[in-house]
Amino acid sequence: MPSVPSVAAGIPRPAVSASRAPAGEIDLASTSGASPPAGRPPFDAAPRTLRVALLGHGRVGRALCDLVSSRGDGLERAAGVRLRIVSVLVRDADRRRTGVPDGARVTGDAESVLAEPADVAVEALGGLEPAATLVDGFLARGTHVVTANKLLLAERGAALARTAAASGAALRCEASVAAGVPLFSVLERSLRTTRIASVAAVLNGTSNFVLSRIARGATFASALDEARRLGLAEADSSLDVRGSDAAHKLRVLSLALSGRELAARELDVRGIEGVRTADCARAAALGRRLRPVAWARLDGGSPHGWVAPAAVPETHSLASVEGAHSGVLLRGDTVEDVFLAGPGAGPVPTAASIVDDLVAIALGARGNPFPAAGSAEPGTRAARRPASRWLLSFAPAGRPSAEDVLAFLAGAGISFRQIRELDEPEGPVFAGLASECPPDAIERAGAGLRTVGAVREWTAFRAVDLRS
Ligand SMILES: NC(=O)c1ccc[n+]([C@@H]2O[C@H](COP(=O)([O-])OP(=O)(O)OC[C@H]3O[C@@H](n4cnc5c(N)ncnc54)[C@H](OP(=O)(O)O)[C@@H]3O)[C@@H](O)[C@H]2O)c1
Repeated sequence: MPSVPSVAAGIPRPAVSASRAPAGEIDLASTSGASPPAGRPPFDAAPRTLRVALLGHGRVGRALCDLVSSRGDGLERAAGVRLRIVSVLVRDADRRRTGVPDGARVTGDAESVLAEPADVAVEALGGLEPAATLVDGFLARGTHVVTANKLLLAERGAALARTAAASGAALRCEASVAAGVPLFSVLERSLRTTRIASVAAVLNGTSNFVLSRIARGATFASALDEARRLGLAEADSSLDVRGSDAAHKLRVLSLALSGRELAARELDVRGIEGVRTADCARAAALGRRLRPVAWARLDGGSPHGWVAPAAVPETHSLASVEGAHSGVLLRGDTVEDVFLAGPGAGPVPTAASIVDDLVAIALGARGNPFPAAGSAEPGTRAARRPASRWLLSFAPAGRPSAEDVLAFLAGAGISFRQIRELDEPEGPVFAGLASECPPDAIERAGAGLRTVGAVREWTAFRAVDLRS
């Protein structure tokens, strides 16, 4: 069986067992010879038809149906692949729906979708259940799966990869992290001898959009409303702005890049709620921009990381990630930095990535992005709140003086490499880049200063260096 290597960076890949073709018109797994790379027209003239069971007809599911109907003919000409959506699983099958492809059966009965012959299931339901049970069921019977669901992969990615490897089904998830950026496709073919030491990324396009708007003077609430109107936000937008969505994606990346599971407790997560235009202006005064950063260290001991609005230097790759875009900076041992960026939110880029995965499967791609998954379960590893550098700002209350505040901070082990006094409408504010220390030390120092009334305002953001 032709097998496209699964994604790994310097990690041995598990053997993928021969795949069993699901009952149906074309045995996609048994095409002879080496499979052409996705996107390149195959040499044989007859288009391959992929029967798709679509789980979910919400924003992503509808966008996929629209793409298949508007671009299907072009795809057939360019890639020799015909996509045929045969069934659509929804919660409410009685609701009138537009955009369901001709011939597709709309149902609320998950069992009947599982039983129907299909070559691949596209999971666009969201949430953990019933998505996990359905995806596992499809994979177990050898039906390939494409999913956009980062929560599912963060929580169950390792187990699903084992089910997929056992049956030989492909599990692909390009849309799950940095929706429209071909990240897993690059990893599938490149960086194969590289051990990724760390990742610094903007993984939530909605948060990046909101922060970009706040930097230009919008309030948090109005910027989030705009993101919702544009269809960028998750169905539950608190997942975006509280950092959970980025945390799920970072956990998926950890599994794909290092083969190791990053437990939720090994990530220190803070959302972008409460970020003000003044915070962005203070960062700018220090040559920095606030970005919703997800950072993880994957080499050495147990993986750990954080998700937070963070100050990045204007010359950092992540500073160039604007609006609803995402960007992923990988730092490896054989290559220094690899940076991939592009659309990070929205149903259309998400659906476009799903189509890419479908075409790859139709052209013979197998395997999954989590080759060494399950080799090191997070088990009982302790909670981690990693140290970092900080962008601190405080408005001295008058007495004690700013010098006294700085002396207090120095006594708490917090020193500054750069500090500026800024003239703000409410009075002078000191903003500076502080040395590396753990979040607990920063929080204790802020609480101590507030308790004695030394500051009328205290804010702290993590900071990323060019070499972080
Ligand atoms: N939206 C984006 O821009 C985006 C970007 C990247 C990744 N994603 C991921 O893509 C997935 C789908 O997101 P979405 O925005 O399309 O969600 P959505 O608009 O809420 O749509 C969810 C769909 O799943 C169906 N569904 C939910 N629970 C179900 C159940 N228990 N049984 C049967 N059907 C069920 C819903 O049925 P009804 O129609 O009957 O309600 C709906 O059609 C999520 O994992 C999300 O994280 C989304």
